[in-house]
Amino acid sequence: MQIDIVTIFPEMLEGPLKGSIIGRAREKGIIKINLHNLRDYAYNKHRSVDDYPYGGGPGMVMKPEPFFCVLEKLDYLHSNNPILLMTPQGEVFNQKLAQEFATFEKMAILCGHYEGIDERVRKIVTHEISIGDYVLTGGEIPALAVVDAVSRLLPGVLGDDQSAREDSFQDGLLEHPHFTRPREYKGMKVPDILLSGNHAEIARWRKKEKFKRTLERRPELLKKLSLNEEDKQLLLQAEKELKKGD
Ligand code: ADE
Repeated sequence: MQIDIVTIFPEMLEGPLKGSIIGRAREKGIIKINLHNLRDYAYNKHRSVDDYPYGGGPGMVMKPEPFFCVLEKLDYLHSNNPILLMTPQGEVFNQKLAQEFATFEKMAILCGHYEGIDERVRKIVTHEISIGDYVLTGGEIPALAVVDAVSRLLPGVLGDDQSAREDSFQDGLLEHPHFTRPREYKGMKVPDILLSGNHAEIARWRKKEKFKRTLERRPELLKKLSLNEEDKQLLLQAEKELKKGD
């Protein structure tokens, strides 16, 4: 997959995109991430990417032409590929959107700044995306969150042992608790079932714990699920155990 990020601060993105799993996926050629400096597409005398708002008021507004130019040059304007604008006014990003974006060969991410972006840029954007109800200084950190979430879904990015299959949200539930050695630490014990070697029972326990965690922290997620009979039983059991305080 190719991801084109348009920013006035490419240096903010270079480091994080070099490291760890994303860096390795780039080296392996599974993802190609191109950083485009918006200033290179500002063809006015001072290469300015922003200007005063019509109608007055504080702050600057990002000009439309550089965004149109860069997207035209990269062949996005008449394609079906997603063009994301990172903005706190957008749809809140989630795993489902990450899965949708991961199906494309190519996508562009525009990072906003200042007070806002000229409204006409919105006409060429396919998705306005927020990473949560808080305001950051710009779209670069949100863009990194999207790139990371999308990249790790691409085949070959995660090793088998890191598989995305069991992630929180992949099956609509939060993850079950994890334990490693030692068996007892500061008086806290690993649940016996995990030491039993009974894989079917361990799988049932984990599913039940997923239900418990989701009931406690994000009960609204459960409404979206269609459960089979066994899951319904496990959910009931999870509710009972939570009531008892287990
Ligand atoms: N730009 C500034 N804040 C943002 C947010 N929460 N999500 C996406 N883009 C942003």
